[in-house]
Amino acid sequence: MVSFKELGLVNTREMFAKAIKGGYAIPAFNFNNMEQLQAIIKASAETKSPVILQVSKGARNYANQTLLRYMAQGAVEYAKELGWEHPQICLHLDHGDSFELCKSCVDFGFSSVMIDASSLPYEENIALTKKVVDYAHQYDVTVEAELGVLAGVEDEVASEVSHYTKPEEVVDFATRTGCDSLAISIGTSHGAYKFTPEQCTRDPKTGRLVPPPLAFDVLDAVMEQLPGFPIVLHGSSSVPQEYVDMINKYGGKLPDAVGIPEEQLRKAAKSAVCKINIDSDSRLAFTAAVRKVFAEKPAEFDPRKYCGPARDLMTELYKHKIINVLGSDGKAE
Ligand code: G3H
Ligand code: 13P
Ligand code: ZN
Repeated sequence: MVSFKELGLVNTREMFAKAIKGGYAIPAFNFNNMEQLQAIIKASAETKSPVILQVSKGARNYANQTLLRYMAQGAVEYAKELGWEHPQICLHLDHGDSFELCKSCVDFGFSSVMIDASSLPYEENIALTKKVVDYAHQYDVTVEAELGVLAGVEDEVASEVSHYTKPEEVVDFATRTGCDSLAISIGTSHGAYKFTPEQCTRDPKTGRLVPPPLAFDVLDAVMEQLPGFPIVLHGSSSVPQEYVDMINKYGGKLPDAVGIPEEQLRKAAKSAVCKINIDSDSRLAFTAAVRKVFAEKPAEFDPRKYCGPARDLMTELYKHKIINVLGSDGKAE
């Protein structure tokens, strides 16, 4: 058993309370490798933003759980080395799908876990979430739960349809489970294809897809039921078109990739939405930079020469999100 406190990490409790009061959101960035972690920490340290490092089940299988834990511990030290005196870094399990996985992460030094039982019937979601909460809270580890189902397909997270969260269920759910934050479904989804072309209109000038707005009425109704309760938005990548264009220009094939417009995320960040999950945008930045080097310098075979530019582009992306979208800069001096 390793406590997250020994690793210099923090849970989400204070972060979220401050974010709701201050009208901003904490970035939750997924990582699977060293370059992503370096970019996240550099961007957070340079902007003094609290940050949530997210590890999915897939990431844990890819990178090895022991290595990931030491990487997170190293991230705290790296942040200090960069001049961030009091780093506020949370290590969070993204989309935990069983009690055993959540327990293992709690025991391994994670400071926060998500139990995603949103695809189960309501009472089963409550029972499993409560079991995780009861265990995690013994160690001061915070728990995110989910009500409502997001559309979209990811390696480990798949759902064909989106069912918006029912505001009439949230009080009962939060009370009976004791969860610390709640992920809701208001029209976001995972991946780089958040909407089909049929769900969108087309900008006549650029020919780009314009997605339908998020269901802010559902968010408002949830906030009315649970005033001041931390709300989480998954599937919040914006799918920057400059990265999509770069990928397509240098040999990739991402037709009609579309995300959540940043102005909608800015609006959400000012509300009780205090955690915004971003993974796909980082994947796009990484891929775009690597493809560019491969296309322009076909003789290059030193991974540092293509992972380095990918890391730089991700750092730029994370800083942009922190400063211009979430507003979390300067909140962890
Ligand atoms: O919400 C899902 C995250 O983007 C993680 O995706 O399961 O492919 O690591 P992954
Ligand atoms: P995106 O695919 O929109 O980046 O969402 C990531 C996410 O929700 C991780 O849990
Ligand atoms: Zn997610």
